[in-house]
Amino acid sequence: MSAHKRSLPELAGMKMRGEKIATVTAYDAPSARIADAADIDVILVGDSAAMAVLGHESTAPITVDEMIMLTAAVARGTRHALVLADMPFGSYQVSDARAIENAVRFVKEGRADAVKVEGGGETLARVAALVGAGIPVVGHIGLTPQSVTMLGGYKPQGRTAAEARRLHAEAVALQEAGCFAVVLEAIPAPVAAQITRTLQIATIGIGSGASCDGQVLVWHDVLGLTHGRVPRFVKQYAELGAGALTALESYVAEVRGGRFPEPRHTYPMAENETDLFAAEMAAPSNSVKKSG
Ligand code: KIV
Repeated sequence: MSAHKRSLPELAGMKMRGEKIATVTAYDAPSARIADAADIDVILVGDSAAMAVLGHESTAPITVDEMIMLTAAVARGTRHALVLADMPFGSYQVSDARAIENAVRFVKEGRADAVKVEGGGETLARVAALVGAGIPVVGHIGLTPQSVTMLGGYKPQGRTAAEARRLHAEAVALQEAGCFAVVLEAIPAPVAAQITRTLQIATIGIGSGASCDGQVLVWHDVLGLTHGRVPRFVKQYAELGAGALTALESYVAEVRGGRFPEPRHTYPMAENETDLFAAEMAAPSNSVKKSG
């Protein structure tokens, strides 16, 4: 594992050298510690937390305060990876001033190294404002979950030449606005490959093929903890959900059967102290008074 904290110039160097950038989401300190130990380059505190850990139906309801709490927890568990925080829906749409105020909170209270915002056209001015305020920004185009209603569902984007051209233009514009990387979600591989060739900044793909400069997956998807449908682009590297269920079923059975805890799970007491305590409890002054 590399001993130092990932930086923006280092990610830029990785793109130039053709070294892939491994990214995963995390939402708490223990998960961040595991990701960091696995030598992950970037930990994204995604607003996917709304669905993956808070049980919402979409990413929209999660608040800035909730995202900052999760980001701070991840930052406490991270030593090497770059911590990237998602700005949730509503936190950057209203005005430049509001977006900067919220992004500054992510940096100061959440200890994020950078923030991520979704969208092309309408988000460009906001990206420029954030970068102008000294906050490193990652863009996110293609399937942007915060606009899922407008997109008509969780569908791949850029599947016609015209749509692909629009996404390509958005990616270039995000680079010009000052983003240091851009997430490409659910975009056909040839389109993502062309965007990756065009841009000087890194592309981080999710469901966008192998040519992107890096890949990102959601923690619960990678580890087999997803509740419900697993998207087509996910590879599950473990079945921790099934393992957790088996472990908890054993625990329930042992508690109900009186097999847990065993003597080795309790704290010992010297025999003379046990006897003394029993004698004291048996004394008439300690007998339980009956009411009535
Ligand atoms: O919120 C998230 O987890 C994301 C990734 C899917 C890129 O934005």
